[in-house]
Amino acid sequence: MAFDSGDDRYAGFPSGFFDRVDQSPDNQFYLEPRLVAHIDERAIAAVGELYRDLKIEGKVLDLMGSWISHFLDPPDNLTVLGMNATELDSNKHAASWVEHDLNDDQRLPFDDDCFDSVVCCVSVDYLVKPLEVFDEVHRCLKRGGAFVHTFSNRCFPTKAIQGWGQTDDRGHVAIVGEYFRRSGGWGDLHAELRTEGSGNGDPLYAVWGYKE
Ligand SMILES: C[S@@+](CC[C@H](N)C(=O)[O-])C[C@H]1O[C@@H](n2cnc3c(N)ncnc32)[C@H](O)[C@@H]1O
Repeated sequence: MAFDSGDDRYAGFPSGFFDRVDQSPDNQFYLEPRLVAHIDERAIAAVGELYRDLKIEGKVLDLMGSWISHFLDPPDNLTVLGMNATELDSNKHAASWVEHDLNDDQRLPFDDDCFDSVVCCVSVDYLVKPLEVFDEVHRCLKRGGAFVHTFSNRCFPTKAIQGWGQTDDRGHVAIVGEYFRRSGGWGDLHAELRTEGSGNGDPLYAVWGYKE
């Protein structure tokens, strides 16, 4: 997506920030299942510990999910939304799953106020219209519900927005914080380094907030 100078909500993001090297529809890139881990075991454990610390339970949406959702204590009712049916169907913790391209249609196919929490692991960097997606998550969350992002320092570089690729870890934390701020209606924002990168180990950052 080219920078939309007519849309005040995105004003200030540099031109090309939301462009991607691979501009083809996402369903082509995600056609083949990838039943792999996108971060190492230590970082995955850190995601699970964060979800446990934040008491992510009840009716939960794993946004931009795949075959693993990283919960130590799987929620009673987990919905997973992603791009590949084989990956989603392999998710043992999912009570239901939805194949849906958020870069094609930012509307979430869920009712208002229906989720206790929404999580999104190592994927926020692929959104070309993040504010609209954050708005939709806000609509679908119950009041007080958490929206939790985790990410490391790697990605599919041709599919991540260029603004992400051109920014360091600290900048990534600021970008996600800015999405919360601009989307609006979020409170009690947090940003933490949950696991430091060490040697070849993946760092794990978390940014989260709560629907006001
Ligand atoms: C790096 S993987 C992470 C998967 C999973 N969240 C995890 O922690 O292992 C990126 C995920 O983002 C999802 N994704 C990418 N582009 C998407 C889009 N346009 N709409 C919805 N999901 C998307 C893909 O289905 C893929 O599972």
